Amino acid sequence: MPSRKFTALWLLALGLFLTPLLHAAAADEVWWKHAVIYEIYPRSFQDSNGDGMGDLNGITERLDYLKDLGVDAIWIAPLYPSPQVDFGYDISDYENVDPQYGTLADFDRLLAEAQKRNIRIIMDAVMNHTSDKHPWFIESASSRTNPKADWYIWRDGKGPGKPPNNWLSTFGGSAWQFDPARNQYYYHYFYIQQPDLNWRNPQVEHAMFNMLRFWLDKGVAGFRLDAVPTLFEDPTLTDEKILPGKNKFGDPNEETKLQENLPEVHGVIRRMRTMVNTYPNNRVLIGETYLPNVQELDKWYGGAKHNELQLPMDMQVGFEKKLDANEFRQRITDAETKLDGNQPLFVFDNHDNPRSAARYGDGVHNKAIDQMLATILFTTHSTAMMYYGDEIEMPTTVPTSKDQVKDPIGISGWPQEKGRDGERTPMQWNSSTAAGFSTNPNTWLPVAPDYKEVNVEVESKEPDSMLNWYKKLIALRRTDPAIHDGVMKMLETGNQQIVAWTRKAPNGEVVVVACSFAAEPQSVSLQKALGGSGKTAKTLAASGGGEQNGTVDLNAVSLPAYGSIVAQVQ
Ligand code: NOJ
Repeated sequence: MPSRKFTALWLLALGLFLTPLLHAAAADEVWWKHAVIYEIYPRSFQDSNGDGMGDLNGITERLDYLKDLGVDAIWIAPLYPSPQVDFGYDISDYENVDPQYGTLADFDRLLAEAQKRNIRIIMDAVMNHTSDKHPWFIESASSRTNPKADWYIWRDGKGPGKPPNNWLSTFGGSAWQFDPARNQYYYHYFYIQQPDLNWRNPQVEHAMFNMLRFWLDKGVAGFRLDAVPTLFEDPTLTDEKILPGKNKFGDPNEETKLQENLPEVHGVIRRMRTMVNTYPNNRVLIGETYLPNVQELDKWYGGAKHNELQLPMDMQVGFEKKLDANEFRQRITDAETKLDGNQPLFVFDNHDNPRSAARYGDGVHNKAIDQMLATILFTTHSTAMMYYGDEIEMPTTVPTSKDQVKDPIGISGWPQEKGRDGERTPMQWNSSTAAGFSTNPNTWLPVAPDYKEVNVEVESKEPDSMLNWYKKLIALRRTDPAIHDGVMKMLETGNQQIVAWTRKAPNGEVVVVACSFAAEPQSVSLQKALGGSGKTAKTLAASGGGEQNGTVDLNAVSLPAYGSIVAQVQ
């Protein structure tokens, strides 16, 4: 018999040997597959120094809130030095922090504090364009022969005052801007102050990958790649086809086939993925990918090769034109079945679009609709991306007159295009001055008028609030094995107004989810669609005024208007 001392020593040795292996296995768990990613618009989240503008120390102050909500990662919209024409999407230095948001030391502290709470940080990588104040562009514009002369898209005009072709900027007007020093035009898909980089020049890729490495070396968890389908343009500069009608800026409608989603971009993305894969801990590449269909979306994953982005955003589900059950069912099914086993990423809200209540709400059932959409976001198999304030149902507050508008497209496009200020208003924390966002009542955008009723403090105390619905679903997503990573199967219930599915955990647990897209109460049988499974289910969560606890008869599941239910089959 080995002595006790010998056994203890042996166990200690085994422990020392196994612990690093277990840690490695845990680190290896692909965190982003189950994650809730929370977008922060840094100007609007929390002001720590009373200037009426959010900042990095403000985000650090709110990490405990984010932890409590259950988010796994935050994506911070651009925080780099910028002239702020496009509120940070015009970058003049990729490796620093804009003084209005703080310093690099503040960033390092934010990262360290977030890591302590197991919250990852995702940076916004704006690689299609820089600011026109970036030293690269200043040098490039200085002559036709300088070392960076070819870093941007420069072309001769077709004659005096005539740009190289008919391409339009998505922010209005020609996509070409004349520069007298070079006596040439430069191309800008976005604002004039956002010249497009020339990705056909390998030096540009080199510089951009170095920039990504700078942040990866600091320990960020990955990137959200801004406007990534627009990196390449057709080099022949053929005119785009003109379509009938005019756009919001009064320009003729045009195709954008030669300006975006060119095949060349995929080579860059594959190389980027290879580079990012050299870092440990599953760094992630997320794409801002507005695409026409699921087949195009699959290409951004690298299809069956899985060698491009891990998470291009699926804008088909969350940015559906209307709240139509058949459309949603089809889009969710597509994401499950037509992505070569790649992981879907659903997004319903961001800083560029009116919030979902403003897009899908009917003015009567807005809360129920938002709750039901949250059920889709958090209980499907998709990775979930949310936008600050969604969890309290922050409103979209569109400016009522042109002189209030801050977003330049809202000024140039007024009144057809009112800009994106409405979805960027300060976070509503409590009922005090500036909703607790700032001690300064003069915030960069006005706080939405409903802040005394719609805020974190008030909603924390209301059991039926949107905030508590979010917390409940996010907690289920973490703790319930079926919702966490169970296999998803869509159900055909025979009721066209219902979208339903199951999640089945490896341990056999089955959770059924049903969402109603009807303004009238529905009763639906899930029994047939579920086949041989049990006849009853235990409610885990129900929205829209549905019964919170208790047993559900799967032959007659009641759903209130736009209600949803998450239940464990018995
Ligand atoms: C997409 C960003 O989300 C948007 O806010 C920005 O204006 C454009 N890209 C240009 O960077």
